[in-house]
Amino acid sequence: MPFDRIFLDELSARNDIVDVVSQYVQLKKSGANYFGLCPFHNEKTPSFSVSPDKQIFHCFGCGAGGGVLTFVMKAEGLEFPDAVRFLAARVGMQVPEQGEADRQAARRRDRLYALCKDAARFYYETLWRPENRMPQQYFLGRGLHRRTMNRFGLGYAPDSFHALLDAMTAKGYTRDELLDAGLVSRSEKGRIYDRFRNRVIFPIIDVRGNVIAFGGRVLDDSKPKYLNSPETPIFHKSRNLFALNLAKTTKSPYFILAEGYMDVIALHQAGFDSAVASLGTSLTEEQARIIARHVSQVVISYDADGAGQAAAQRAIDMLKKCDLQVKVLKIPGAKDPDEFIKARGADAFRGLIERSEDHNAYRLEQIADRYDLEDDEDRVQFLREAARMLAGIDSSIEREVYAGRAAKMAGVTAEAVNVEVRRELSVRRKKQRAAERREIRSPVGMAQPKDRALAYADIKSAKAEENVLRLLFSDQKLIAGIETALPPAWFSSPVLRKIYERVLALDQEGQMVDIVPFEGWLAPGEMGLLSSILEQSVPPGEHRQALAEYIDTIRMQRVRDGSITQTGEDPLLTFGRIKNKTREDKRYDDQG
Ligand code: UTP
Ligand code: MN
Repeated sequence: MPFDRIFLDELSARNDIVDVVSQYVQLKKSGANYFGLCPFHNEKTPSFSVSPDKQIFHCFGCGAGGGVLTFVMKAEGLEFPDAVRFLAARVGMQVPEQGEADRQAARRRDRLYALCKDAARFYYETLWRPENRMPQQYFLGRGLHRRTMNRFGLGYAPDSFHALLDAMTAKGYTRDELLDAGLVSRSEKGRIYDRFRNRVIFPIIDVRGNVIAFGGRVLDDSKPKYLNSPETPIFHKSRNLFALNLAKTTKSPYFILAEGYMDVIALHQAGFDSAVASLGTSLTEEQARIIARHVSQVVISYDADGAGQAAAQRAIDMLKKCDLQVKVLKIPGAKDPDEFIKARGADAFRGLIERSEDHNAYRLEQIADRYDLEDDEDRVQFLREAARMLAGIDSSIEREVYAGRAAKMAGVTAEAVNVEVRRELSVRRKKQRAAERREIRSPVGMAQPKDRALAYADIKSAKAEENVLRLLFSDQKLIAGIETALPPAWFSSPVLRKIYERVLALDQEGQMVDIVPFEGWLAPGEMGLLSSILEQSVPPGEHRQALAEYIDTIRMQRVRDGSITQTGEDPLLTFGRIKNKTREDKRYDDQG
């Protein structure tokens, strides 16, 4: 972890989780915990809990959970280091950077942020000078309201080779800083001149609200239409999305992904506050991951032309990789969302969103492309493959819709497709029922982690492993010597083993075992699992006795699956000796 533990402890201590969460969620106290509506999924009855004692949150509905830093990461859509900075700023703490080189780089970046902010202010002020009616008219003529223009900080770069250069050097910025920020270019003769000239300016703002780059558009039909900042120490095209700083607070369950700056701005003005755009390139996987941190659905709203549609197909792949639900919107009779909204209005666009097609339609078309649907044999193959795809759709209504579509494509009756789909579904259901029966028969059914990627292979063992971890977190004295009685290799769940090993290491280093060192270290799903374990209270009774029993359960499961033999010293005996050694602790426990 790049941050030192003492700092993180102090940071967590000064940012009480109840205070922080209260800024986003209305909390009500009930017993030892607070409850409210989960900010990470839609719900009407509160299943989101915050424990002031353990300094964790957990949602029983969606499984999200963790400490105060994880909460900020999710709520603000920040990476761990930025969440740390966010909370540090909240309580006025200085974030220690590692080493002199890092400190220098951080200082340099801060200068660039300040410079970009000042440049944005310069462009903005220039736009509204009385002599610049032309660029003002340009925006107004494209239907933007003044309020919208201010919201996006739109500006104008005057027709000059040195206006920005002069204004910024007068403010104390160096030529090198202007070059680093990509605001000026150097000619072959070494002369420095403004990059953006006689262009309207679109500031690009990162998720934390810093101006990091600019896009500039010509006022006429000359080329290139848009000029953008180059990559700089603070601007990475592939890691930012235009208008994410605004869209991140949307109440909408989906983002609208558009192609252009003007599309996004027109969408926001029309009330679609979840519109974002990739920055002049096709959507990158990093951008898809960023989107997935904020919403679970995306409506792709690219240009109607061939290039736009091809870009949409690439975007679908990126978004599906991040488990996003993807819809594709078609814009009839207009080039792009901006033009459509101008011609037909916001309600008509809302209609397009409602009618936007699930990516299933796209997948069906892809399957169809591989077959000659005039050929009988091909048609049969197409229907088989389509049925398999259709059977994978969860919603029966959607399945019905796409089955109908597949039937039409192949020129057969809907019933014929449905028969195939039903056959495929019944195979799947049989498999699923068998799995469910297995789970119900197990004494700890329904006990799987919310994150399916973490599914337990051995529920009985995993439950005991969970119980062990819960005890170790609640009573750190139990950790000493436990490794002999319970080797990490005995854990059946890889994620629980990973947490257990970290617990052992922390204890060895004399560090406190709580949620703090796991934040930003575990993946979100793993964090949700850990918070679900810690959220439950430790059952009353003698901890060491309980621990010995859990360890025995795990050991028996390992004997059963053949990973260890029963010979050799019984770990319970080993553990018994540790127990005796620490009887003093035990007495203290019993009194406390
Ligand atoms: P479009 O050509 O679709 O432009 O480019 P647009 O957004 O509809 O522009 P208007 O409506 O004519 O103003 C989509 C996006 O691709 C990037 C820009 O980010 C633009 O918003 N682009 C386009 C460039 O970076 N450079 C270009 O020369 C053109
Ligand atoms: Mn356009």
